[in-house]
Amino acid sequence: MLMNRAETLAIDNPARRALQRWYEAPTLRRLGGPLPAGARVAEIGCGAGYGTKLICDYFGAAQVDAVDLDPAMITKAGRRLARYGDRVRLAVGDATDLRAAFGAGDGSYDAVFDFAIIHHIPDWRDAVAEVARVLKPGGVFYFEEVTAHALARPTYRRLFEHPEHDRFTADQFCDELPRHGLTVLGSVTRISGDYLLGAAHRPIGTGEHA
Ligand SMILES: C[S@@+](CC[C@H](N)C(=O)[O-])C[C@H]1O[C@@H](n2cnc3c(N)ncnc32)[C@H](O)[C@@H]1O
Repeated sequence: MLMNRAETLAIDNPARRALQRWYEAPTLRRLGGPLPAGARVAEIGCGAGYGTKLICDYFGAAQVDAVDLDPAMITKAGRRLARYGDRVRLAVGDATDLRAAFGAGDGSYDAVFDFAIIHHIPDWRDAVAEVARVLKPGGVFYFEEVTAHALARPTYRRLFEHPEHDRFTADQFCDELPRHGLTVLGSVTRISGDYLLGAAHRPIGTGEHA
């Protein structure tokens, strides 16, 4: 589901960008570790592309494939990321089908980033399955998510639009990961039942996953 105007303003502004740069990115790197040299990365729901910029500059990815369902977001991201040239590929598409967006086969990426997007997807488990499919063995899924608890808050309900059914708690999100062959790394950072940040990897030696 696309963001409405209020959420678009809330998600791409100097305060959120500072939060993403100084809190979210360092927390994700602490939890999931650094990227390997030459890392090929996918970002789902890249929005206006500030997270993509951090994946390049802060995490040091060699190549980023970033997808968003909203053509307007991809246009904004294209402006922000023009200076990265071929290092960043952008596509309008669905996080649940990275084959359609980038021709991504199984095990294509060293890492996948989710900066607050899976809660926007009605069939959110399909997005988790797709993340697991495209990760290489040893690859890391870095996630920052918004829970059902936050989405049920009056402010969220009044201002923003999200799928209403079958949203997840932090535990439900974490419990879904092993069903797709992903193992949570260390502890997950939970913020007042509303947000979670964490990392999970696809263990080396795992073949097919559910
Ligand atoms: C809350 S915004 C987060 C944007 C960006 N990751 C950030 O942190 O600034 C959620 C984004 O997910 C995108 N989105 C929603 N459903 C999607 C889907 N099925 N596939 C890809 N992107 C999707 C929306 O268009 C929106 O840009």
